[in-house]
Amino acid sequence: MIKLSVNGKAVTVDAEADTPLLWALRDNLQLTGTKFGCGMALCGACTVHLDGQAVRSCSTPISAAAGKKVTTIEGVGASKTGQVVQAAWVAHDVPQCGYCQSGQIMSACALLAKNRKPSDGDIDTAMAGNICRCGTYNHVRAAIKDAAVTLQRIG
Ligand code: FES
Ligand code: FES
Repeated sequence: MIKLSVNGKAVTVDAEADTPLLWALRDNLQLTGTKFGCGMALCGACTVHLDGQAVRSCSTPISAAAGKKVTTIEGVGASKTGQVVQAAWVAHDVPQCGYCQSGQIMSACALLAKNRKPSDGDIDTAMAGNICRCGTYNHVRAAIKDAAVTLQRIG
């Protein structure tokens, strides 16, 4: 049994210590917004926050999340940063097929939570591990810049 906090709620997961966090979220907790892409920390589809840091849940054992705070796409909208980023995603009509977009948003939120004025280089670095087979990169970048402006304005 492993205890952790997911989207602000204390949960106990009955899983082996080396179970990937991704499967605990999807199979044990029915939080299916976090996606499986490569399973090897190469695509970013499975990105969640672990104590505010963007991590690849496919290659993070649930034991590494014990006693920590996990935020998924289902919970990120509870924060101001999450609300603003999701609104920017809608305004810029970012998703195509949508499969990568949970991970894209989680990486963008982790960036903007710490850096309200990201440079192009900061955005490139933060988003480099999030692959989009539909090629939404320009829309992702525009939405991040728009969200940054909004967050600077509202504080
Ligand atoms: S599924 Fe985790 S990085 Fe691809
Ligand atoms: S929107 Fe289709 S993979 Fe990114």
